[in-house]
Amino acid sequence: MTSWITICDTCKTEGWDAETAKVTDGEALAEKIEAMAEDRGVRTRRVSCTMGCDRACNIIVQGAGKIGYSLGRFAARDEDAQAIVDYAVLHGASETGQVPFREWPQGVKGHFVSRHVPVPEAE
Ligand code: FES
Repeated sequence: MTSWITICDTCKTEGWDAETAKVTDGEALAEKIEAMAEDRGVRTRRVSCTMGCDRACNIIVQGAGKIGYSLGRFAARDEDAQAIVDYAVLHGASETGQVPFREWPQGVKGHFVSRHVPVPEAE
């Protein structure tokens, strides 16, 4: 089942300067994630604010019927984007959305904020 990476494109990390920055940190991270996610079997989308502004940059990994995860405190770096995409690929391959800790890319460790269990099927 395809997993999605939702990227907050309005996140700004400490020191972000509206005078000099052309884009937000979230936009810069989104561009990197989108480029790296191509042909990896994961989908991406952008949203403006996931209400975690003080732990920017924020992303969410979700899949229908699976446990989803919010992660934060990323920077718009290639290694952060790569770790996020690699993790989303593993999430997509997992039936439940759970990925064993030993398989986590190093770059996502310490970035998990919350876990969201899927809603029950309607009866
Ligand atoms: S601006 Fe990114 S979570 Fe609010």
